[in-house]
Amino acid sequence: AEYKIAVLVGSLRKGSHNQALARALEKLAAGKAAFSYVEIGDLPLYNQDFDKDYPSQGVRLKQQIRDADAVLFVTPEYNRSVPGVLKNAIDLGSRPYGDSAFAGKPAAVIGASIGVIGTALAQQHLRNILAYLDMPVLGQPEAFLHFKEGLIDEQGTISNEGTKDFLQGFVDTFIAWVGIHGGTH
Ligand code: FNR
Repeated sequence: AEYKIAVLVGSLRKGSHNQALARALEKLAAGKAAFSYVEIGDLPLYNQDFDKDYPSQGVRLKQQIRDADAVLFVTPEYNRSVPGVLKNAIDLGSRPYGDSAFAGKPAAVIGASIGVIGTALAQQHLRNILAYLDMPVLGQPEAFLHFKEGLIDEQGTISNEGTKDFLQGFVDTFIAWVGIHGGTH
């Protein structure tokens, strides 16, 4: 059967290149993994008072992650780090202390930017966070996508054959990684 992959996209805007990238990866994973997109745009800003009475959106987020075999982070780089909306989702999913939904889940990170370093610094920050959360994160291939207009359309169709082959390799390696690190299917 297929693996279930919870996907967190770090951009909320319409026409997001990272949303398009996530759709493209979903197509390349067809038949091997099913993507479930985690809503992070309606989450309240994490506040430690929540730990006594967790907000329903936080409970939903944690359940969606727990239901998945693995987590895929697809994110832009904001000011050389991860966007605040994504960090907030991670903080909400990791609390109360000792009840993190992320612990032990295999993960991968990828991102697209209009800048030439293609989210490299955001991904390195994200890897630090995920190491602390005790997630086995795919090391290679690294995937820093320099997004040029028309590279991937909103349906996730990739126009460049080399990019498509590279992303297919990324997806296949990640799926194998999920199998090694506790995937149950
Ligand atoms: C950016 N952008 C950006 N790009 C980059 O390569 N490194 C960076 O540090 C930043 N910083 C940054 C901060 C903020 C607040 C914004 C709004 C944008 C540009 C970014 O790569 C571009 O807007 C992408 O299109 C964002 O990804 P989505 O929304 O298309 O998925």
